[in-house]
Amino acid sequence: YSQLDPFPEGFLWSGSTSAYQVEGATLEDGKGPSVVDLRTQFPEGTSDYKVASDHYHRFREDVALFGEMGLKAYRFSVSWSRVIPDGDGEVNPQGIEFYRNLIGELRSKGIEPIVTLYHFDLPAALHERGGWSNRETIDAFERYARILFEEFGGEVKYWLGINEQNMMILHGDAIGTSGEDHDDSDPHKDLYQQNHHMMLAQARAFNALHEMLPEAKIGPAPNIAIVYAATSKPEDMLAADSYNAIRNWLYLDMAVHGRYNSTAWAYLRAHGWEPKMEDGDLELLASAKADYVAFNYYSSMTVQADHRSMTETKSSAGDQQLGASDPGVQEPADNPNLEKTAFGWEIDTVGFRITFRQIWERYHLPLLVTENGLGAPDTLEADGSVHDGYRIDYLRSHIHAMQEAITDGVEVMGYSPWSAIDLISTHSGVTKRYGFIYVDRDEFDLRTLDRFKKDSFYWYQRVIEANGLPD
Ligand code: BG6
Repeated sequence: YSQLDPFPEGFLWSGSTSAYQVEGATLEDGKGPSVVDLRTQFPEGTSDYKVASDHYHRFREDVALFGEMGLKAYRFSVSWSRVIPDGDGEVNPQGIEFYRNLIGELRSKGIEPIVTLYHFDLPAALHERGGWSNRETIDAFERYARILFEEFGGEVKYWLGINEQNMMILHGDAIGTSGEDHDDSDPHKDLYQQNHHMMLAQARAFNALHEMLPEAKIGPAPNIAIVYAATSKPEDMLAADSYNAIRNWLYLDMAVHGRYNSTAWAYLRAHGWEPKMEDGDLELLASAKADYVAFNYYSSMTVQADHRSMTETKSSAGDQQLGASDPGVQEPADNPNLEKTAFGWEIDTVGFRITFRQIWERYHLPLLVTENGLGAPDTLEADGSVHDGYRIDYLRSHIHAMQEAITDGVEVMGYSPWSAIDLISTHSGVTKRYGFIYVDRDEFDLRTLDRFKKDSFYWYQRVIEANGLPD
């Protein structure tokens, strides 16, 4: 294009976090443990989540910085076990108070809260009763969602259901949140049963919101990465199409159209992994409707046809591609056309634009980017500055691709990069930083926990001011 369309008025320039990665105070003020707090094994050299960024104690300072950066919105998740310590029993008033104060603080700075109901941190007490394998967790989730809608519905217009449900299923044990609940004799079968239950739970939450708060809006938040074929061989193209169905469309077809994607369902049947259904399940799924499609995007994926038998295994192309290896169907492949981040994740801005187009053409709902960003080890200079030009480059090129997608005709309502402030990564500790705001701590030394504005903070401030990329 010789000229790009502008970002729409009221575009939600935002930043994202999740409760367990940013809050800390894991067992304070009545909070019950979540599966994340049960975790005892961490990749070597990485910290746990006990203090995280200490946002629980410093949220006022953090929100003031978000306000200074100019954020129009802030996406965060509520910790289910902070609000209901055992997942389905008594409500913890101090948990409600924390989120009420946070939301109040955001509103006072003119920042729109975007609230994720569930971001990987299932209450430990529910996990002990079978977690998502147990249908009772569906009831507990609906009750929890209704409590949040009741408590915060007056102040919160934008809601998200389950964060990266597809990653929880495809990564299984790797995320460590649902993996331990499964029956080891056939982990996939159990994971797809859990998946079915999560879909029902999310459908109940969508319906509850629409019934209780007709003005509010809700959508799913899977990780969507467009899948390329490694070559133009039709078999590779077929593998890419299959993996697109299993990885992406299964989740969005359900959230938008309320039905199982046919290719994905055929895949589940072929493996004997189709979930058990109860009467009324399909009707419930069909009745729930998303108001927008929120999605997390870090990079594209590339796969090729796989001719291994089910019992053979091969090495995967890195943690970003984890879950893409499926003997007899597809295996991940490196994409030689893409550069990688310091942590080996491929960078693909064109893939971002294609992802926008594909989601839009399939669903015709407004799109909200709920995560996108660059994880890198930053350096705090003696004068308190952090020169993260690499992050600015990543974000700039993705914002440009998003604007191209808008010019292609895609309706995009907001952009919420990961992360508003430094936090603990899912697998690589605090060393893999994503934030606009530096938190002074390292893996095991908590140092001052003071906040410092990175170069990307000032740059994003200018983007927001200009409602688009500054000249
Ligand atoms: C998404 C998650 O998978 O990616 C976040 O929703 C996560 O919780 C983010 O932190 C980046 O991944 P990582 O492993 O680099 O932290």
